[in-house]
Amino acid sequence: MCGIIGAVTESAIKPVLAGLGRLEYRGYDSSGISIVINNEIKTRKVQGKLKKLKHILAEQPLDGEYAIGHTRWATHGKATLINAHPHQCGQVSVVHNGIIENHLQLKQQLLQWGHILKSSTDSEVIPHLINHYLSLQMTQEEAIERTIRQLKGSYALGVLINGVEKNLYAIKQGSPLVISEGNDGAYMASDAMALGRDINKIYYPKDNELIKLNADNVQLCNASLNKKIHYVNNTYYENIISKGKYSSFMEKEIFEQVDLLSNAMSKQQASSYTAINFTKLNKITIVACGTSYYAAAVAKFWFEKYANISVAIDIASEYRYRSPIITDNELTIFVSQSGETADTLAALAYAKSKKAQTLALVNVCNSSIAREAGFFFEIFAGPEIGVASTKAFTCQLAVFYKMCIEAAKQRAFISHTELRKLASYFQLVPYLIKKVLKQSSDMKRLAKKLSTYSNVLFLGRGIVTPIAQEGALKLKEISYIHAEAYAAGELKHGPIALLDEQMPVVVLAPKDSLTDKLLSNIQEVQARNAPVFIIGDACIREYINLQEDEFFELPSIPESILPFITVLPMQLLALYCAQALERNVDQPRNLAKSVTVE
Ligand code: AGP
Repeated sequence: MCGIIGAVTESAIKPVLAGLGRLEYRGYDSSGISIVINNEIKTRKVQGKLKKLKHILAEQPLDGEYAIGHTRWATHGKATLINAHPHQCGQVSVVHNGIIENHLQLKQQLLQWGHILKSSTDSEVIPHLINHYLSLQMTQEEAIERTIRQLKGSYALGVLINGVEKNLYAIKQGSPLVISEGNDGAYMASDAMALGRDINKIYYPKDNELIKLNADNVQLCNASLNKKIHYVNNTYYENIISKGKYSSFMEKEIFEQVDLLSNAMSKQQASSYTAINFTKLNKITIVACGTSYYAAAVAKFWFEKYANISVAIDIASEYRYRSPIITDNELTIFVSQSGETADTLAALAYAKSKKAQTLALVNVCNSSIAREAGFFFEIFAGPEIGVASTKAFTCQLAVFYKMCIEAAKQRAFISHTELRKLASYFQLVPYLIKKVLKQSSDMKRLAKKLSTYSNVLFLGRGIVTPIAQEGALKLKEISYIHAEAYAAGELKHGPIALLDEQMPVVVLAPKDSLTDKLLSNIQEVQARNAPVFIIGDACIREYINLQEDEFFELPSIPESILPFITVLPMQLLALYCAQALERNVDQPRNLAKSVTVE
């Protein structure tokens, strides 16, 4: 959840600060750095965003060869200065991402040893324990390893020790960590992107491998470093971390979807969905969180309708706590953009412990979920920086759609003509996305009006119900407007009581087999004086009286590909509402891109 970085290089502050900028998507409650200067560790931290820290360091510059940095998403302890990382004890300074579950017991022990802990974080125990063991004349490596043996939970750590020797250590257990050796130094970080143009080869350590980085080299302690190195294209990362002509990463990522979907389609053709024997399956369970969960909800519709396979969908944070029944002929699919979501990872571990066949759909191929699953498919969205997930969703859908065609083919549930139709509709996706994006100014107008309300209801029917839910999630996440979504038929079972002049309803109304039923639902809403906004087919306007800024026209879309296209207006609506309210689109409050805590 937090971002950590460390560097050993001639001027370490520069890559550490630049890296923290690229890690801010992981959390931005506070930030801080530690650096060795004149044989002493100096630490600077601020509550709030990195720009405050940069400002302080611009006024009082610090630089040296060894530095670590941290950007925080608060879990244990409020987002205050005292809780900001790095945490230091003597000549040991630590940055931590993850959770130390037994920190209270460890704190107790440290208090008995006479240590004074200042913060209310779970992380502060780590430098104190290391310092304690160093005081018992253990070597630096022994002191870290002794500490690690006491920690329960998950962690990726950067440990800076200024002793007889100066060293930067890195170690992880269940949290992401990369190590890099460049021509000019050695680096560690939560992800490769943080290292930007300075990296060319990276190493993904295994759990509990202690790695020492110093001015001479990178070493695996207590074993020979038989590294599997990944070579990285620097320009690729440079393009990823630039917003280009867009005002936010979210906007850039929304507009990237035209090209991505065309590319992703050809890449996915190369992937082999034939590896799955769908004829042997009698059930698929799909487990995910947030936006990835809504992709699963769309997939359920496709697999059941076109391949006649029963699909159960589960929220990852609930899955392993309710004794799910896992049968022999079942495939359990885990969907995660980041591949690091703790709830999804824990659900995967649970499924594996019950001998389930597991498949992951991920965007980050080196992620924990990709590594842990029986096998995985990449969604080819490219790194997604905006906290609000956009392009990953449509790329997840693309993989599911292709898988579903393969399943339908193997199970011979629909005719060859229908199969060909499904495949040809898929080819229309980039063109239709482009068409919708061209009308973005219409959505800006609609969003301006909608953003004046504090609550919004979203309605959909059939295959676009998960899209209405995704729309509500996007809107609340980045604009802070309270939004909930319902299948339109559910309205009369309760939510209708909420309707009045102050409760606008956004209806997703493409032309499909349920349009007539949806029209009746819209009448019900208008009869209760609730303002209605429609994202729908042109035909809707013949029946419902709407002003220009209350309607966004959808092109004509084949039913099977509706989710790909209708989600675009939802993403734009959230973006423009957030902009109208002057929210920080890429860094919404209380959120972080990868939720690596339970
Ligand atoms: C989406 O906009 C959210 N930020 C969030 O719901 C996200 O989709 C969820 O946390 C799951 O993340 P994952 O796909 O990386 O597992």
